[in-house]
Order: sequence, then C-alpha cells, then structure tokens
Amino acid sequence: MAYIIAVTNQKGGVGKTTTTLNLGAYLARRGKRVLIIDLDAQGNATSGLGFDKTKQTPNIYHCLIDGLPIDSVIRDTGRRNLSLCPGNIDLAGGEVELVRIPSREFRLREVLTGMQQKFDFVLIDCPPSLGLMTVNALTAAQGVLIPIQGEYYALEGVSQLMNTIELVRYQLNQNLIVFGVVVTMYDVRTQLSAQVAEEVRKYFKEHVFNTIIPRNVRLSEAPSFGKTIDEYEKKSKGALAYHELAKEVIEREKKTRFLYA
Ligand SMILES: Nc1ncnc2c1ncn2[C@@H]1O[C@H](COP(=O)(O)OP(=O)(O)O)[C@@H](O)[C@H]1O
Ligand SMILES: [Mg+2]
Repeated sequence: MAYIIAVTNQKGGVGKTTTTLNLGAYLARRGKRVLIIDLDAQGNATSGLGFDKTKQTPNIYHCLIDGLPIDSVIRDTGRRNLSLCPGNIDLAGGEVELVRIPSREFRLREVLTGMQQKFDFVLIDCPPSLGLMTVNALTAAQGVLIPIQGEYYALEGVSQLMNTIELVRYQLNQNLIVFGVVVTMYDVRTQLSAQVAEEVRKYFKEHVFNTIIPRNVRLSEAPSFGKTIDEYEKKSKGALAYHELAKEVIEREKKTRFLYA
C-alpha cells in the first residue's frame, strides 16, 4: 500500500519542491517505488525532473477536472522507480473550477484510486496556498510533511496551516497525521538558524526530523539542469542531507504504518 504524503506549507519558497524532488529521488534510489505529483501551477517539480513544463498536456489538472485516468498522465522520468504526474500553468484555473465539482475536496483521492498498489510512496508537491488544491492533497494523504525554512518568521503562518490540517482531519480525512517537519535552508554559520531550529522543535516536538537540510547552493542549481541533487552533485551537503532524510522517512513510515493499517 502506498503511503501518500502531502508536502505542504502555504508559504512560498520554503523548500517544498526541493524536498519533494530530492526526497522522492532518494526514496527511489533506496528501492521504493515513488510517484511525484506536481500540484503547483508553477510546475517546478515537473521542470526540476527535466520535463518541459509547457509541453506537459495532459497533466494532473485534466485528471482532477476532466476525469482523465491518472494512468494516462503518469510519465516515466527515466529514473528507476521514479514516476511523475506533471502539473503546470493549467492548474492556475483549477481552484476555481474545482468549486463547481460536487466532490471537490475528494477529487485527488478519487484520482489516486488504484495507485495504492503501484507505488510505495506518493509525494504531492503542493502550491503555496491553503486553497482547494492543498485541501485535495490533504484529503488524499495519510501524512503531511511540512518544510520549515530556518529563517526569520519561520513559524509565521504555521498556526493557520495547523488549523487547516485540523479541519481536514475533522471533516474530510480523519486518518491524516503530521508525518513530519523538516527544517530547510539551515545556515550553520548563523545563530539565528540555531534559534529557529530550536523554536521549531519546541513547537512540533517529536514531529521534527533529526535531519536538517542545510542551505546549499548546489540544491538551488540542480533544478535548472533538470537534475536531482543526486544526479547533479551527489557529494554535496544538500545531497547527503536529503539522503539521510529519505532514510528517516522510510523508518518513520514503518513505525507509522500500524496507525492506518
Ligand atoms: N537547502 C537549500 N539551499 C539553498 N537553496 C535552496 C534550498 N532549498 C531550496 N532552495 C531554493 O530556494 C528556492 C525555493 O525553494 P522551493 O523548493 O522552490 O520552495 P517552495 O516549493 O516551497 O516554493 C528555490 O530557488 C530553491 O532552489
Ligand atoms: Mg514549489
């Protein structure tokens, strides 16, 4: 059974896409069958894997809105165990169009029916909002992975995010849990980063992964070449960190399994 993770934080630029791509790539490298779903109109997860996002029609939008089967949309990324369900600017109108659909919060869950047997992990790269797209991701998922940027105002907006998760749990998906919180773009040279990491730990406690993702310029360069960090520079600090995170995620998923079995 696939474990479905929504990578969510309504703040932009906190590392959602970077985490989705590189965590996904290392889970795949460790033998897990991974599907990455790009639910963001920016299509950064799609281009980050080397796809021309302007040419990815049909995509997840057409599954959600037109009822196209996801099988006909999933792309082979050319990497073992790693598949992509692309997204792009088509999704920009999706929020508004979803409103008119009766099962609007459940569309992604419905679309993913049948994927449970084909993958071990499904990672959903969410847009930077708490709108219907993100609600769809939270309704389809078993767990939320929250990247928190290790900078000023790190926890700003977090209570809103937690409220949304609570609401979804109460009304749409009672099994949803906070799977984990990962501190990203951590700068070892600054006192501030250390303080932020501590604050995050105080707030989220055991939810926080031991692995901290450092600020590493290689991580920001890789997507412009359509490469994961493992392909771009596997010895970089960013690569090592995401590999460690993947191991932690695999361990945690095993422990979490009994909760939803
Ligand atoms: N650990 C990191 N070190 C350096 N740059 C990073 C790191 N993580 C992400 N970035 C860069 O920061 C920007 C925002 O990251 P991204 O993953 O796109 O965030 P989001 O998907 O939350 O908007 C991107 O340009 C990305 O390449
Ligand atoms: Mg993104």
